[in-house]
Amino acid sequence: MGLIVVSNREPYAPRRGGDGGLHWVPSIGGLTAALDPALQHAGGTWIAWGEELPGVADVDLPQGNPRYRLKRVRLTDAEVRDFYHGFSNRALWPMSHYFIERTRYQASQWRTYVDVNRRFAQAAVESYREGDLIWVHDYQLALVPRLIREALPDARIGFFWHIPWPSSEVFRTLPWDHELLDGLLGADLIGMHTPEYVAHFLSACRRVLGAEVEGNTVRWQGRSSRVVDRPIGIEVDTYEELAASPEVEEAADRIRRTLQTQILLGVDRLDYTKGIPERLEAFDTFLGRHPEARGRVTLLQIAVPSREQVESYRQLRARVEGLVGRINGKHTEGGWSPIQYIYRGVPREELVAHYRAADVMLVTPLRDGLNLVAKEFTACSADGVLILSRFAGAADELPEAVQVNPYNPEGLAGALTRALSMPLEEKKARLARLRERLRQSDLRTWADGFVAEIAGT
Ligand code: ADP
Ligand code: F6P
Repeated sequence: MGLIVVSNREPYAPRRGGDGGLHWVPSIGGLTAALDPALQHAGGTWIAWGEELPGVADVDLPQGNPRYRLKRVRLTDAEVRDFYHGFSNRALWPMSHYFIERTRYQASQWRTYVDVNRRFAQAAVESYREGDLIWVHDYQLALVPRLIREALPDARIGFFWHIPWPSSEVFRTLPWDHELLDGLLGADLIGMHTPEYVAHFLSACRRVLGAEVEGNTVRWQGRSSRVVDRPIGIEVDTYEELAASPEVEEAADRIRRTLQTQILLGVDRLDYTKGIPERLEAFDTFLGRHPEARGRVTLLQIAVPSREQVESYRQLRARVEGLVGRINGKHTEGGWSPIQYIYRGVPREELVAHYRAADVMLVTPLRDGLNLVAKEFTACSADGVLILSRFAGAADELPEAVQVNPYNPEGLAGALTRALSMPLEEKKARLARLRERLRQSDLRTWADGFVAEIAGT
């Protein structure tokens, strides 16, 4: 029995080095961060869209220590534009995150979405051997379970939806609401991060399809699908060990020595759902209220470029850069600047060193499916404070974080004050409880458990 994972994003992207050699660089994002270690453990096949690079085909990964086979689905530029930048990221992404005013529902892009989903399904069917388990991921591939089911009526198919599932009132704005649900219900098992997302999904099945829903089971087209909340965990031990390593400790010391202040940290893909401008403005408010904090606190924002072909992401970048400039211009004095802004992805050791160096981690999305950064920081920090948006899926699991409403800059500024002055004992006690929770459901538990549930359907 083999495992076939299907996702849009490939776990590593090929790059030609200066020496002409081929390097596979890890992709950045929650889905690949979770699934790469999971598939390395389980072995199997990963089907994903392969970024175009001449002479590069299917490959065994990770490079140097291969554990699974990556099968690369080729898409034309026009398909990438309409399927990925278009329907996935201008329709489904904003709709699912409650940004209806940013959605563009275009029939031509929907048609490409259907065609591309068909190609992914076909690749899965071609790889399938009797007894295999198929695990499809995320909103880019919602039709794939049904399309596979048509070709393989008896296959065991699981699906994981990594982003929020919105209220059915919002979901019903999608002109293809019926088709999307029908596509997903080709799976035997559908996973989401929180009980609320599951409840919204079940409600959509009732209202949009008129499907029969009993408990967590949806009956549709003569088949049943079970819908469950299974929030992703992280590799707690791996992060803890890395954080305690001498190299990381030294790098964290270097960061502290360079800044010479208390450190607030933000780590995100540059996405409008992550609440970065709101965070910067709250910090500005905080500095206005606390002149004594000048020269004593720095906000370090690490933002990795994301989806730059989509207009709203380009606008966000300009807005963030403008805000960083404005706030630094307003407050900079005597060699101290309040915001340090890094616009790139950083290697994992460096990221962990930043988690370790931070006094306060700011995870303040306006809406987020789960948010792994919050969990990674919790596993790495020795005595930091996590400030966490109530609109991150991880909020339910992490009640000892300082929880905030990111839409309220005053409240966020107040949370900063509280976090920066929290007694050491309280910080440690909160972290210890949070860490305990992470351990109860880590990445291995999540992945093995979900695969076992698919197998049991
Ligand atoms: P999303 O899936 O929306 O990107 P998550 O917080 O769930 O959000 O996952 C983001 C993943 O990407 C995490 O594993 C995090 O460590 C990584 N990441 C985010 N920003 C950066 C960055 N600037 N450099 C390196 N890794 C990053
Ligand atoms: O975790 C949600 C998600 O959209 C994943 O599907 C995706 O891999 C990740 O964020 C990063 O986005 P993208 O693949 O568009 O770079």
